[in-house]
Amino acid sequence: MLTYTSRKEISEKTEQLRGEGKSIGFVPTMGALHRGHLSLIERANNETDILVVSVFVNPLQFNNTGDLTSYPRDLQADKKILETVGCDIIFVPDEKEMYPKPTTEKYNFGTLETVMEGTFRPGHFNGVAIVVKRLFDIINPHRAYFGEKDYQQLTIIRKLVETEKIAVEIVSCPTLREDDGLALSSRNANLTTEQRKEASFIFQTLQLAKKRKNHICPAHLRQLIINIFDANKNFKLEYFEIVDDKTLQPIMAWESSKGMIAFVAVWLGKVRLIDNIRII
Ligand code: PAF
Repeated sequence: MLTYTSRKEISEKTEQLRGEGKSIGFVPTMGALHRGHLSLIERANNETDILVVSVFVNPLQFNNTGDLTSYPRDLQADKKILETVGCDIIFVPDEKEMYPKPTTEKYNFGTLETVMEGTFRPGHFNGVAIVVKRLFDIINPHRAYFGEKDYQQLTIIRKLVETEKIAVEIVSCPTLREDDGLALSSRNANLTTEQRKEASFIFQTLQLAKKRKNHICPAHLRQLIINIFDANKNFKLEYFEIVDDKTLQPIMAWESSKGMIAFVAVWLGKVRLIDNIRII
């Protein structure tokens, strides 16, 4: 496995590999790798000749300094995992390498970024777009892999690729879950043993939403689920929304011709968790 910290050097390497006719698969990460990342890596490994993984905790996408400092980091463990799964190239830039000058890019994703994560984490998606665009420019992959747990991020990245005319295929991969339903996330590492047990409540409640949808209208279902979260004192709900899977705008009625997804963001103690479930 080759390790690069320099943008210039990894760019030269991936361009050389492209020149040799190799397809490049790319999995961007913020480290603290878990089975969710490994499923993206496995897919990329199967579908492309060369696998590049980046590990960079991007400060621009944290709107809360506490969240940035407590974000789990273990580069040595990540490197060991990446060696065993057959990663060819790892890119581990530092902040100066990624952002030698203050950033000025301002992306506009319209109403895709004025809902859910966009409302509760101002500036988050601009930070994600800046780093992802730069990583694409540096690595120039044929395909890049993203998880559906961050579905809004995935939608925004598809939009970024479209508006910036970036020649990369975005591949989405299903959310991986623990046996009790908790979606895999690097932030799970910050849960106490007790909170880890309580966390299964999130997916259970999403499953309940899916089950109930045939009996009530979207607005009543939304309120019912909000009430269920509010009644559980372990959780502080930020949002629960049922939205169109393309526009991410709230839906007013069930329509079988449209894709619909329910999204949730909650605090469990000091840990913020997000999840989603396809309703239709
Ligand atoms: O999903 C993540 O881990 C991050 O948002 C990403 C895409 C690596 C950008 O920093």
